[in-house]
Amino acid sequence: MKFAFAKPALPKSGTVAVTVATERALGAAGQDLDQKTGGTLSRAMKASRFTGKKEETLTILAPAGVEFDRVLLVGIGKGEDLSDATLQATGGAIVAALDKSGETEVSILLDLPDGGTVAPDAAAAELAFGAQLRSYRFDKYRTTEKKEAKPSLRKITILTAEPDAAKRAHVRLEPLAESVAYTRDLVSEPANVLNPESLADRCKDLTDVGLQVEVLDLKKLRKLGMGALIGVAQGSAFEPRVVVLRWDGAPDAEGRRPLAFIGKGVTFDTGGISIKPAAGMEDMKWDMGGAAVVIGTMRALAARKAKVNAVGIVGLVENMPSGTAQRPGDVVTSLSGQTIEVINTDAEGRLVLADCLTYAQETFKPRLLVDLATLTGAVIIALGHEHAGLFANDDWLAENLLAAGKSVGEPLWRLPMGDAYDKDINSDIADMKNVGSGRGAGSIVGAQFLKRFVNDLPWAHIDIAGVAWSKKDTATVPKGGTAFGVRLLDRFVASYHEGK
Ligand code: BES
Ligand code: MN
Ligand code: ZN
Repeated sequence: MKFAFAKPALPKSGTVAVTVATERALGAAGQDLDQKTGGTLSRAMKASRFTGKKEETLTILAPAGVEFDRVLLVGIGKGEDLSDATLQATGGAIVAALDKSGETEVSILLDLPDGGTVAPDAAAAELAFGAQLRSYRFDKYRTTEKKEAKPSLRKITILTAEPDAAKRAHVRLEPLAESVAYTRDLVSEPANVLNPESLADRCKDLTDVGLQVEVLDLKKLRKLGMGALIGVAQGSAFEPRVVVLRWDGAPDAEGRRPLAFIGKGVTFDTGGISIKPAAGMEDMKWDMGGAAVVIGTMRALAARKAKVNAVGIVGLVENMPSGTAQRPGDVVTSLSGQTIEVINTDAEGRLVLADCLTYAQETFKPRLLVDLATLTGAVIIALGHEHAGLFANDDWLAENLLAAGKSVGEPLWRLPMGDAYDKDINSDIADMKNVGSGRGAGSIVGAQFLKRFVNDLPWAHIDIAGVAWSKKDTATVPKGGTAFGVRLLDRFVASYHEGK
């Protein structure tokens, strides 16, 4: 998709989209177009249920008196509700309305509703950002799709009084949208293509955006002593990998201690010997969603040259049952030295993360740790697909993550932790076991396990099992891999850690 920003002028072809506020309120540009077309816009609205609510659309084909092919009215809501999210949703709604219509070009007359507080240049950039997020599609494996069924839209021009300022605002958002798409591609890729070795290889290409990339292979992981992570991988025909991505955007910062982002990268989770039921097991190709979010976030930070030092560490394994697989009851020694009795081989994500958390702390002395993982089915029972679960040992870090999530539309909900839950993972023969004794509080117990690998520093764990994949389209997220977390972490860095 190509984006351009220009001064308002009616095009000679394509579609003109016009934003309309609630109660069918046309702005200056809309009123002007309504006049030029002999009142076609007002009449069409009156003859329909279109009222200008956020994300509503109404298509008017070839109105009299103009050269272009159609007008698309798109609701932008009330002035007092205007926000980055509303503008992104408006951009997304325009793409959704036109992408299947055969139209290739749209010019958007952006009339902002009265009473809003978003500046026109920022508004234009956010609209383009939303359009770009919604136009994502994973179609590399569709070989027989007819041309008529393919998305048609190629170029979006946003007409605004200050196109140069809008373009400058968009320069910061475009790499973020591209990084979201990068993460969605990884999440969507099937597990016969994306395995620990091939994913690590893909990461090496990220030196192109300026990241330092280091791949730790099995030999190195053994030497280090990552027994918990290796145990998960030992049933697979693929070797495990740990990839370290570094971005040093603030080389002069005091102490230079980085933020550390850790991701669960199980490229396929069969459950191992504690095998999962067949129904829905295909979903477990996206059990590397946490790793994909960490990789996409690091890509975004580098691409927009964020003034921060950050390190991303992803643990890549495939969890398979086989003659070499780990058995229930096995005891493994983690990198931290703590021993773990593996009661259930399907609780593998925490084993992978445990060693990555230790490695992050020993190697980089980070100022804080945030891990992301599709860790538990239980978080879907608790929060459904609307919030990711947040766990933290530090209130300030938790508040900042909650605020960042809220402002980008990737909301988190904090769940409690405590010693009473921690007791549940005491083992009779090792330092701990990898699951609790009962079925209660599965997500909290998972977080308590991770906490045993965190030394004295701020740490947060985000359980994205319910939000990493979506079965329905929303304004800016087409169904499939969502990349939930990339925009959140980018905002978290921008708001609380850049230039500090
Ligand atoms: N990858 C799964 C969690 C998951 C489930 C992610 C559904 C996305 C959708 C994880 O490895 C797992 O299997 N967790 C177990 C933990 C249990 C054995 C304590 C679970 O949730 O059942
Ligand atoms: Mn599992
Ligand atoms: Zn898993």
